[in-house]
Amino acid sequence: MRIAITGAAGQLGRALCAALQPAHDIVPLDHAALELSDPASASRIAATGADVVIHSAAHTNVDGCAREPDRAYRINGLGTRYVALGCRRIGATLVYISTNEVFGGDAAQPYLEYDATAPVNPYGASKLVGEQAVRERLAAHYIVRVAWLFGGERNFVRTVLRLAGERSELAMVADEIGSPTAAPDAAAAIARLIDTGVYGTYHIVNAGHCSRFDLARAVLDAAGRHDVALRPIALADYPRPSRVPLYTPLRNLAAAELGITLRDWRAAVTEAVLALR
Ligand SMILES: NC(=O)c1ccc[n+]([C@@H]2O[C@H](COP(=O)([O-])OP(=O)(O)OC[C@H]3O[C@@H](n4cnc5c(N)ncnc54)[C@H](OP(=O)(O)O)[C@@H]3O)[C@@H](O)[C@H]2O)c1
Repeated sequence: MRIAITGAAGQLGRALCAALQPAHDIVPLDHAALELSDPASASRIAATGADVVIHSAAHTNVDGCAREPDRAYRINGLGTRYVALGCRRIGATLVYISTNEVFGGDAAQPYLEYDATAPVNPYGASKLVGEQAVRERLAAHYIVRVAWLFGGERNFVRTVLRLAGERSELAMVADEIGSPTAAPDAAAAIARLIDTGVYGTYHIVNAGHCSRFDLARAVLDAAGRHDVALRPIALADYPRPSRVPLYTPLRNLAAAELGITLRDWRAAVTEAVLALR
């Protein structure tokens, strides 16, 4: 299949390119090749002649989205509309990468694919507009929600390792809970999902969930940095421009029904940290 990948130079985009080559003919679209806020991006997508478009590009800076909500809407909301329109012109299947942040964060148990969305910040709201744009325009779509990605250059795992090189004690938020997910694991699962033809909404995350504090602990343990002390703090002690949904673990029910499951997050974290040594 010919598969176009937006955000091809990003964390998940790179993992997708690696997972889908050489079995497929990949058309990588980095930011220089495609500007989502430009309505002409519909034509750019159509010009790829792709059978499948994986739309991974987004304005992913959550605090930046809070400072400039219109920009977030233009890129993540309208941009996804243009990508969907491009797909419709050429009859391509669209895989839209969405986020745990479409949920409100006040649940008592991990969110399922059909649970009600209620974003609490402009990033989540703009990504939800993207989901709606896809559902309204294309029957042939997968909406794939991922969460707390690591495995690339900029992510929480890398930040913990960098800070551990600079300080003897790290303060980590203990009341924000989510589903850490290795980008290569998510990419491999998406590669399997697009072969199924079972369109719909999916939660593709590593199994289990934890707090930022627990994740930092696992990173330091895997790196053998038992000398670095960890101090739990509350999200309220760490003011940010954007409101953070406290509890957004995702549960993979729909993909698991197709035999697509991901390993436990701890194993994925350990592997990612050891790979950086
Ligand atoms: N990272 C996470 O923890 C996380 C969690 C849940 C969901 N997601 C979703 O997963 C997807 C991939 O995330 P990621 O971690 O791979 O993000 P990333 O590393 O920030 O990659 C996003 C890519 O999108 C590109 N991009 C940004 N603005 C654009 C624009 N206006 N037009 C075209 N391209 C643009 C970026 O290019 P430049 O860098 O050159 O601007 C970057 O290469 C996103 O859809 C995100 O919403 C991520």
